[in-house]
Amino acid sequence: MVETVIDKCPRIETERLVLRKCEPGDLEGFIRLNTDRRVYEFFRSNPSIEDCEIGFQLGMQKQAEDGFGFAVVEHKDTSSFLGFCGLEIPSYAAGRLPCEPCVEIGYRLLPEAWGKGIIREASRRWLRFGFETLKLDEVVAYTVVQNHRSRRVMEKLGMVYDPADDFDFPGVDVDHPLCRHVLYRLSADKFMGQSNG
Ligand SMILES: CC(C)(COP(=O)(O)OP(=O)(O)OC[C@H]1O[C@@H](n2cnc3c(N)ncnc32)[C@H](O)[C@@H]1OP(=O)(O)O)[C@@H](O)C(=O)NCCC(=O)NCCS
Repeated sequence: MVETVIDKCPRIETERLVLRKCEPGDLEGFIRLNTDRRVYEFFRSNPSIEDCEIGFQLGMQKQAEDGFGFAVVEHKDTSSFLGFCGLEIPSYAAGRLPCEPCVEIGYRLLPEAWGKGIIREASRRWLRFGFETLKLDEVVAYTVVQNHRSRRVMEKLGMVYDPADDFDFPGVDVDHPLCRHVLYRLSADKFMGQSNG
């Protein structure tokens, strides 16, 4: 019998983008992204450059262990680094998220790439990969209540919000303005229905 090996983080091309595994040469873009205050408006604080370097190595390691993870979004024509987007098994909350075990879709773009539908193009493709190739039953996404730009992306992807799923992020003071999170879910059935509709 021939065993089929699925590359869980393939290089994928969309109309305008290349979606691909993180490589060591992406560190500079990763630092630029994560030290930008606008990108971190809804996170408690930007990481230092040293923390970025550690996070980058951990992300690459996790990608190798899980077989997939947040992937680079690159402009197809210029090969410029735009940010990241992809599917990931969350690990930073040590199993304390109410939706775990789960696979999330996450994204973060350099501000010059905002407002062009880039994240929708990348996310749709990763969702298709998650449901069609990885055969996931569900993909979730979450963010702080007030991150309306990100919530709008989730809604445009057809993800479903139920206020009953709102949760306090583990390890964040309940009085902190960035503690309360909203959760969006997308089932394989709904995604396949949307794709065929
Ligand atoms: C989230 C992010 C990837 C979205 O990028 P994007 O594709 O450029 O998104 P847009 O700027 O096109 O905005 C998406 C939608 O939100 C809407 N929007 C933008 N600002 C908004 C606001 N303040 N309130 C409500 N809606 C808003 C836009 O109009 C757009 O909707 P439309 O397509 O119906 O017009 C980008 O903002 C980002 O990287 N943010 C920083 C990191 C982050 O917050 N990541 C998510 C953490 S969960």
